[in-house]
Amino acid sequence: MSKVTVVGAGNVGATCANVLAHKDLVKEVVLVDIKGDLARGKALDSWQQAPIDYYSTYLVGTEDYAHTADSDIVVITAGVPRKPGMSRDDLISTNAKIVNSVVDAVMQHSANPIIIVVSNPLDVMTYAAYKAAKLPDQRVFGMAGILDTARYRAFLATALSVSPKDIQAVLMGGHGDTMVPLPRYTTVAGIPVTELIAQDKLDAIVERTKKGGGELVKLMGTSAWYAPGAAAAQMVEAIVKDENRIFPCCALLKGEYGHKDIFLGVPVKLGANGIEQLIELELNAEEMELLNTSAGHVRSVMEVYDKMAV
Ligand code: NAI
Ligand code: 2OP
Repeated sequence: MSKVTVVGAGNVGATCANVLAHKDLVKEVVLVDIKGDLARGKALDSWQQAPIDYYSTYLVGTEDYAHTADSDIVVITAGVPRKPGMSRDDLISTNAKIVNSVVDAVMQHSANPIIIVVSNPLDVMTYAAYKAAKLPDQRVFGMAGILDTARYRAFLATALSVSPKDIQAVLMGGHGDTMVPLPRYTTVAGIPVTELIAQDKLDAIVERTKKGGGELVKLMGTSAWYAPGAAAAQMVEAIVKDENRIFPCCALLKGEYGHKDIFLGVPVKLGANGIEQLIELELNAEEMELLNTSAGHVRSVMEVYDKMAV
């Protein structure tokens, strides 16, 4: 694989492109934005960092999709971010139009890309991109679970005063306040987290994780970008290197967990073909109920999207 396109040169897209360049995975990263000069400026700035940080990945900034021709992977971050007081779902009408137009333009220049959606509301924008791209579901999926799990792992690392490297966790469901962190599948270097932290503290961390995006919106007046950009870049890395890494990603369910025709966060294996396998965990009754509630919420936003004339 030699070419990755990132659409949207704002906070998340530019961060993702910059992290990708630092990983030195591909020959070229193309950064596209309707504000062409913004994309050109950020690509040039990132390329001028190459002699300092020693990478060879060249960055192109543009508003012209001709430059994206034959992309192996396309990351879509175009859209408007949340402002204080807004939910991710409030972004639907604006971002649905943007995501649809971006996918149309991308597909005119690349025959068989893998598409990673970042724009919010994430689960429904991934569904929109899947419908517009007409690619196999293995090749269209969304980034949210890596970010949400990272927040959960970071909060745990702080509370336990351990390295975040040693915390492994699974988190499922939609990218919203109904997401489902799974303490039963959380370990610290293989030790069940429940052996290391009091239940009330763990419960508080789970709650803080669910509202982790909103906490940052309140602090900054717009949504986060360092961790989101790095999370999308980590997905690209797993695909380019055919790593078969297990990550929570927003994927099309076809009966797994009792749900079908819905994009929802679940653990998947990511490799050269995109989603190589969708992993079905044993959930207990309480976890299943939380997942069903989250799926119900995503489905209600999908219905809003389906009724919109995009
Ligand atoms: P931003 O406002 O900094 O950047 C968005 C960029 O998209 C802007 O530069 C804008 O010019 C561009 N854009 C708008 N319409 C376009 C079009 N039709 N074609 C190409 N570019 C277009 O926003 P930010 O912070 O980068 O967030 C981007 C999106 O990602 C938002 O929808 C945000 O909610 C979402 N997000 C999702 C996360 C996730 O976990 N899935 C995490 C963080 C943000
Ligand atoms: C986040 O979780 C708003 O989805 C964005 O930071």
